[in-house]
This record gives sequence, C-alpha cells and structure tokens, in this order.
Amino acid sequence: MKHVEQVRILKRLQTLHKQQLHQEMVGETVFLEVDRYYRDDILRLEEETVFHDYPLVVGHVSQIPRKGDYFICDWKKLPVVVVRGHDDTVRAFFNVCRHRGARLADDPTGNLKLFVCPYHGWSYDLDGKLRNITKKECFPGVNPCEHNLVELPTEVDFGLIWIHPGSTQMFSPREYLGPFAEDLDSFGIAELVSYKKVESVKTANWKLLIKTYLEGYHVPFLHKDTLAAAFRKGVLCYDEHDRHIRLAAARTNFEHVAKIPEDEWNILDYASVYYSFFPNCFFIMHPDYVSLSMFWPLSPDETLWTHNMLYQPDRFKGEKGQAALEKRFRFTNDVVFDQEDFAISEGIQSSLRSRANRTHILGLEEGLLVRFQHNIDTAMAGEKVRAAD
Ligand code: FES
Ligand SMILES: [Fe+2]
Repeated sequence: MKHVEQVRILKRLQTLHKQQLHQEMVGETVFLEVDRYYRDDILRLEEETVFHDYPLVVGHVSQIPRKGDYFICDWKKLPVVVVRGHDDTVRAFFNVCRHRGARLADDPTGNLKLFVCPYHGWSYDLDGKLRNITKKECFPGVNPCEHNLVELPTEVDFGLIWIHPGSTQMFSPREYLGPFAEDLDSFGIAELVSYKKVESVKTANWKLLIKTYLEGYHVPFLHKDTLAAAFRKGVLCYDEHDRHIRLAAARTNFEHVAKIPEDEWNILDYASVYYSFFPNCFFIMHPDYVSLSMFWPLSPDETLWTHNMLYQPDRFKGEKGQAALEKRFRFTNDVVFDQEDFAISEGIQSSLRSRANRTHILGLEEGLLVRFQHNIDTAMAGEKVRAAD
C-alpha cells in the first residue's frame, strides 16, 4: 500500500475516533430476506455465476515450491489439480482422466513425475500432454494429441495462485484487484510462506460466514474476552474497488500514531487491514502474518472453510518462533474464527427456517454486508465488472 494511502486511511480512522464514530456509515437500514441463506436455487445460481465467472484464489505458491509438487483444489465441485511443472510453470487441470474420467491425483498434496491414471494406466506429462495410452492398439482412431488434460486459465500473482473456471483465456488478477493489487505487492505476500492450512465444514451458508468479517459492530460484544482488547472499539473505515472491499480497523495503540511524524507511519503498526476479494476470499493482514480464508459452498447450509496462515519466516525463527506462531494460529483459527465468529453463524443458520425472522436488520454500521450482498446479486444477474473477463 502506498505510504500516502496508509496516511490517508490512518487519518480517516483518527477522524472517526474524534467524532466518536466507530465505523464509516453506509446508506440506510436495510431489511435483508433470509431465504437467500437456505434456498437451493439461489446456491445453484451462485455456483453458475459468482463461482464461475470470476477469478478464484486456490492457494499460495509456497504450497508447491518444488517441480512436481501439486495440490488438489479444496472444493470438490471444482475438481482441479494445481501442479508445478518441470519447467517451473504452475498450471491447473481438471483432475479427470480423458479416458473414462477417473481421478488422476488422489491425495490432497504430493509430488509427481507425471500423472498416471490408477484405472487403466494412461499417463500425462505435468504440462497436461497425454504421454501414453496403454494398449494403444485397442484405440484405433484415437489421436493422443487431441486428448491432453483439460487446462484452466491459471495465473500466479502476488504469490497467489488464481484460476478462472469460466474462461478459456488468460486473465489478469492485477487488473481484477485494481488499486488493491499494489497493497498486496507492498505487503510482500509473494515472499510469505504457508505455515499451516486447515479446512473444516461449517454448518452455515458461505455468505453468512464472510459477512461476519464485514462489520466491527460485533467486536466489543462477541469478542469481548478475546479480540476486543486489541481493537479500538471497532473503529473501522473501508474502500471498495468493483466488487472487492478493503477494511482497516484501528488497533488499541492507534492513538499513538499522532505522536510520531507522518512519514514514519506504517499502517500495520496501528491497524489491521482486511480484504474481501470477490467472491469467496478473505484476507487479514497482521504485521507479521496473514490469514487467508476461502469459503466454498457445499450446500446452502454447509460451507467448506479453508484457512491458510502465511508468515514471514525471519520473524518466527527457531523453536521459540514456531511456538509463537502456533499460538497465534490457534488463537485466530480455533478461538476467534471457529468458536466465536463461525459458531455464531452456525447458530443463525440453524434457526433460519424457523420463520422467527423473515429478514435480518442491517444497521448503518452493517452497510458493507448490504454491499457484499448487492455484489453477489448483480453478479448473479449477469452484470460483470469490467476487469472480471
Ligand atoms: S479412466 Fe483413466 S485410464 Fe481409464
Ligand atoms: Fe468477528
């Protein structure tokens, strides 16, 4: 993030704090119908549009550092294997044999010289070329060149691996993120290393889970014994670019910024910065580690949540450093996200069909939930943002 931008955000937070406001307000009170969190037809449409027409983050390059390393996309509805080829290029293929469709790579991660289908032994190079058809004489008229693995457009940018399920052409994550791309560059995401990635199924709609991140209103209440102490009562400002949202939340030491010269201001010393990258990726920037969460719908009421913590290796050296990192991971992953934010979402989901609430009431500090929903609704209606193609 450009320094001038960091200063601009910190000043906005100062102004909010002075005005005794907690969050920049958005629009008006909105009554949002809750059936969008449990209707099958809505999920189907979301899958056909928001999970199809836009680039998706599927991982970080540090998950596959060596040639031949691969991982399988966490979302089984997108059966893709991502592999680093012998030429060091990262590619994504449907993890589906061209003969009769068996899964080629079965383990979630691993290292391969080539893909060998477990069913009848057809083999493919890591660049997707069909190398060998066993009992070739039994396949008269089959030209191997025409049956390479089906490749999806894949880009590596900011150290993140992106695929585009609905495109046959290359795309630009940089263009997709607009001004936020520069933030990721300056935060050095590409140099980070994956510490640990965990996944679990949450019994809540994927949108409900993401929406827990989009307001600071709940922080002093839900997180009163945990996060609340670290933040300035949820003083929070935001920016948007197309369907992406950036939030900055003032930390408890935030007032100290007024005591040092502006040219020494470093936003991560005084605020946490969050990004909701449309549609399902949520980034939290801490000074020395990053939480990268993705939300993959399994059904209207179930979501696969993957959480990948990325860190700066030189900030967590040796046994002591690793123990400190593990402590942070457990606190963030197990306590704040799992036992607080997502436990609340699961409770909400469990009573959605009760008809106690036909709508949820979103106040002025919860306007970003409305914006996020609007972004999904317009994507479902086929309105594309200019950089998404
Ligand atoms: S399905 Fe892969 S070789 Fe037959
Ligand atoms: Fe929260």
